[in-house]
Amino acid sequence: MERLIITEDGSHSLYSHLFNQQYHSLQGALTESVHIYIELGLRPVLTSATNEIRVFEMGLGTGLNALLAWKLADELKKKVHYTSVEAFPVLPEEASLLNYGSLTDTNYLSKIHQIAWGETHHFSPYFTFRKEKVLLQDFEPEHKHHVVFYDAFDPRAQPELWTEEIFTKIARYSEPEAVLVTYSSKGIVKRALAAAGFRVERHPGPGRKVHILKAIKL
Ligand SMILES: C[S@@+](CC[C@H](N)C(=O)[O-])C[C@H]1O[C@@H](n2cnc3c(N)ncnc32)[C@H](O)[C@@H]1O
Repeated sequence: MERLIITEDGSHSLYSHLFNQQYHSLQGALTESVHIYIELGLRPVLTSATNEIRVFEMGLGTGLNALLAWKLADELKKKVHYTSVEAFPVLPEEASLLNYGSLTDTNYLSKIHQIAWGETHHFSPYFTFRKEKVLLQDFEPEHKHHVVFYDAFDPRAQPELWTEEIFTKIARYSEPEAVLVTYSSKGIVKRALAAAGFRVERHPGPGRKVHILKAIKL
């Protein structure tokens, strides 16, 4: 496949010709997703959760973050309702070439890509999944979220998705103390999140990436 990339940890990623961006860090797609979205974002919230957790993802892309969230929910036996928006979907035929199934010992990825958009699917006793084919800018969620995976392309490629206005909208649909995690620690991102009502923390990044962000809704 013309778009396929093999990253440094051996996991695949894709290249977007539309945005001239890769979907993950070249230093390791799986390493990045596990480090930022699962270990920094979801696991601490899920471990201490006494109720069901709602996760919102900006940018379903390859489905790797969703797959890992499903795996964690099943492992911890904690209920997760996962909603992801995606305006420019990866085709199921492309997704079938990604090596995430063998790397995670699951067959989840094909389900994530083959099911219908705009419907809630009960993938396991612990994981419901819904994907919406829509621009983030036009999305109105039904519920507030406890965890946000903010995984848009880089601010240089998509500056319109890293603004105070966008994060104010995300904040409106986040529960108090909700946790937003993202790979970008750029100054404009920190300032936009703070202006939108988040307390912003810097954390060590995966691989050679120095910093990533965790932001708590005030
Ligand atoms: C960095 S990639 C996401 C990677 C993904 N989370 C994964 O695990 O593979 C960014 C994604 O956002 C999508 N996207 C770009 N602009 C968007 C927008 N305005 N609204 C919704 N999705 C958008 C892209 O098509 C792409 O799939």
